[in-house]
Amino acid sequence: MSDCKPTRHFAIAIDGPAASGKSTVARRLAERLGLIMINTGAMYRAIAWATIRKGVDAADPEAVKAMLAEIELSCGVNNGGSTILIDGMDPGEALRQDPVNARVSKVAAIPEVRELLVAKQREYLTLGSLVMEGRDIGSVVFPNTPYKLYIDASEEVRLARRSAEGLADVVSQRDAEDSKRKASPLMVAEGATVIDSSEMDIDEVVETALDTLRSQGLPA
Ligand code: DC
Repeated sequence: MSDCKPTRHFAIAIDGPAASGKSTVARRLAERLGLIMINTGAMYRAIAWATIRKGVDAADPEAVKAMLAEIELSCGVNNGGSTILIDGMDPGEALRQDPVNARVSKVAAIPEVRELLVAKQREYLTLGSLVMEGRDIGSVVFPNTPYKLYIDASEEVRLARRSAEGLADVVSQRDAEDSKRKASPLMVAEGATVIDSSEMDIDEVVETALDTLRSQGLPA
């Protein structure tokens, strides 16, 4: 029998409110460090998209749970980033649009949705070391990782960032729903370092994030 130990992959957890810049930071960190980048918001968005396709009321937990048993959710990686298919279909740009924005916090508050997606998120670690961004990565998905950041920005700045992207996402309403839900609410995880990106450009946030991760023990 071989005594080879399995490769020890690690996760960098990046949490924060909507439009705080965490996706951009996560992508840039993944590129700089040669890691896989996993966008967990897209997974919750894909479930919200599925409710629209199937005509299911996203605010009805029983109906959403029944839908989970009927859909096939495939999570993968392509070009270093996460991909998601529902019943073999790629929801594409629809994931970022208003009908999904309006429903995603509702499906994300359903514990069974979270259980399913958290299991898929943990499975990603078998593929390699990764940067994962979301709301509960440092608190629930990988609570034992030493590498945890919480990227914040003022509400004013976050709204301006969304409208600069041409999106009318009501970030404050989603944040309120995401923070007050019972199941894995948005929070600063134990051991996470908060970086306020309101007054920084993206390069500064990335450099601050790298310095912080090194102070948390990430090898240079
Ligand atoms: O990161 P995002 O804005 O694309 O996330 C969309 C929604 O998904 C967000 O309003 C809350 C939910 N979400 C979550 O509950 N947990 C995560 N790990 C990621 C996202």
